[in-house]
Amino acid sequence: MVHRREMLVSLVAGLAAGSAGSMFPAVLEGQPPPPPRVPRLRSLRSATGTVDWLAVRELFPLAPDWTHLSSFLFVSHPKPVAEAIDRFRKKLDSDAMWIEIAAFTDAEGHPFTAVKRALAGYVGGDPSEICLTSNTTTSLAMAYHGLRIRADQEIVTTEHDHYSHHESIRYAAARSGCGVRYIPLYDSAASANAAQIVERIGRAITPKTRAVGVTWVASSSGVKLPLDRIAEVVARANRGRTPADRCLLIVDGVHGFANQDVDVAKLGMDFFASGTHKWLFGPRGTGFLWGRADAWPELRPTIPTFDPDGVAITFPVWGDRADYPPTQAALVSPGGFAAYEHVLAVPAAVDLHRTIGRDHIAARIVELNTAFREGAAKLPGITLHTPRDPALSGGISCFEVRGLAPEQVAGRLAEKKIRATTSPYKVSYARVCAGIMNKPEEIELVLREIRALVA
Ligand SMILES: Cc1ncc(COP(=O)(O)O)c(C=O)c1O
Repeated sequence: MVHRREMLVSLVAGLAAGSAGSMFPAVLEGQPPPPPRVPRLRSLRSATGTVDWLAVRELFPLAPDWTHLSSFLFVSHPKPVAEAIDRFRKKLDSDAMWIEIAAFTDAEGHPFTAVKRALAGYVGGDPSEICLTSNTTTSLAMAYHGLRIRADQEIVTTEHDHYSHHESIRYAAARSGCGVRYIPLYDSAASANAAQIVERIGRAITPKTRAVGVTWVASSSGVKLPLDRIAEVVARANRGRTPADRCLLIVDGVHGFANQDVDVAKLGMDFFASGTHKWLFGPRGTGFLWGRADAWPELRPTIPTFDPDGVAITFPVWGDRADYPPTQAALVSPGGFAAYEHVLAVPAAVDLHRTIGRDHIAARIVELNTAFREGAAKLPGITLHTPRDPALSGGISCFEVRGLAPEQVAGRLAEKKIRATTSPYKVSYARVCAGIMNKPEEIELVLREIRALVA
């Protein structure tokens, strides 16, 4: 049979021949494609390595008359990301077939591989372990829907996880007939402690537990989990288990990814789901599911892949009605055409983080958010729910103001042009989250305004 790649190569050759000299000069003249244009930035780091945080702030087109303390929720594209999107958009708009040339030939420098390489580098894994998705929700859905789980098995999750996580689990359970258990990892977020969290997860795992689903930094409480210790307890429970009975650790990592200086792929979990349109400040509508090489066979693909690496496998299998080989990341990436100008611009966001420095970003997140928590903890009439210890918290702070509902807190702050949010959970809190675009003065300002809210 003629495989898709072969068809495309011949199609591309035909296109190139038919558009002599105009559309694809690199293909026509056999030259390597031009190097990607690196946007010119005001220097973000001094010669001694210090970060110019004002220069970082200038990269974001955020309204200058507002204090943005919720930029984690959904990205405002920083300049290098917006420029990368624009470059890819122009290519697609000038000829949409460009995407197949980029995907299936050598002519455009393999931009899909560049996306996986960038994300793999950031998590400390291998590009072949990256499944591209459009957000955290899809990543979680692909993991749980695809999970090979029997009706006599169960998924253990916590009471603190997000709607996208819980409902992905519930739908998977409805289809497979497996059980679901929700456990509390702490009695109150403010008093959460690592030993208790690990102990509760260890105690909850039974021989029937096929997956444990947790969230790195909870958007319900701001609590950050000790993922390495949780992975250890799961590994201990797995001793002597067959692959079909192995308990997989699935992490919703979106609120730790790109604000913690950690190689998550080395922490011992099986799957890590994240959007890149939050703390990484990648293009809107992009995300990924990372999984250990030996964990992917435990999933089935859900939506036919369009990932070039995946299509190279699925297309012949489809044509020949053949059996699938063991699952790998590229087969799980949900297909259909996508907003490729966004997908392919992900490396620009990773490059920006690398330029600033993952360690500097993590330190800045600690500095700003600790300042907020320390200040808020001292304010009369304020109940801070997020632990103050940076080992148990990230960039999210949840709190209550005496006498005001969370939406009233967000609303009153908005009147002062301060963008805070409320946590979208059954028990909701007001939230303040400082990111790399924020300044210490903005923390002081929001603390002053919160103090003023308490009558
Ligand atoms: C903990 C958590 N998981 C998942 C999501 C959904 O993220 P996404 O938009 O990437 O699907 C959110 C949303 O903010 C969240 O707070």
